[in-house]
Amino acid sequence: MQQKTALIVGASGLTGQHLLELLLDDPLYAQITIYVRKPVHISHPKLVQQIVDFERLDGAIDATDVFCCLGTTIKKAGSQDAFKQVDLIYPQKIAALQLAAGSQKFLVISAVGADERSSIFYSRTKGQLEKALALLRYPCLCIFRPSFIMGDRAERRVGEKIGIFVAKLMSPILIGPLKKYKPVSAKALAKSMQHAAHHSGNGTHLFASDDIKTYE
Ligand SMILES: NC(=O)c1ccc[n+]([C@@H]2O[C@H](COP(=O)([O-])OP(=O)(O)OC[C@H]3O[C@@H](n4cnc5c(N)ncnc54)[C@H](OP(=O)(O)O)[C@@H]3O)[C@@H](O)[C@H]2O)c1
Repeated sequence: MQQKTALIVGASGLTGQHLLELLLDDPLYAQITIYVRKPVHISHPKLVQQIVDFERLDGAIDATDVFCCLGTTIKKAGSQDAFKQVDLIYPQKIAALQLAAGSQKFLVISAVGADERSSIFYSRTKGQLEKALALLRYPCLCIFRPSFIMGDRAERRVGEKIGIFVAKLMSPILIGPLKKYKPVSAKALAKSMQHAAHHSGNGTHLFASDDIKTYE
């Protein structure tokens, strides 16, 4: 069995933490490197933590599969420009550096409604990221477009909580083309990223909330 190596960016976040746990337990991965701003309190023989300054990234590591769970909110980032750095510029830069270093798969969390022509800044930024990544021409690009992501979050996000509450209430009527608006758990999203890393062949693959929900 040929083992793989992984890089996770955003491993300290809600989805990234689940993904890190899954990959550390996954015998198909020999090594998991994470790029973090501050150390995570996990020690594991397969885990390599790299404390990085995301503004000054210029190198790459040996990773067959790259998982991007980075993201922020405009409120937390402080401005639209600062949000764009985290949700567009850093992922794009890491993807380019890793591709040049030989990474084969790039798996990224975008969002439902991602569209570079959207009038909504958040959806437009996610659409711009998807387009920039497609232009890089990775052998395999997996784009996940969840609706709201549910899980235990230490941080208080009132708007997101209201959105999850409403989406859960409406869940029984979210059928047909509306299925993509169903909220998903961070764990299911992480599982679906792990599964895609093992089973997706060459090309670009899109995963909507209803694809992700099959892992719940
Ligand atoms: N939450 C939702 O309902 C929802 C819905 C659809 C799509 N999404 C997208 O899904 C992705 C993952 O969401 P999530 O809720 O799992 O993430 P999250 O819990 O907000 O975690 C975000 C990750 O990004 C890192 N990060 C944030 N700001 C950073 C900065 N300035 N520099 C470097 N790293 C930074 C965080 O690191 P630190 O620990 O160092 O802060 C953390 O590892 C995001 O792209 C998000 O836009 C989310």
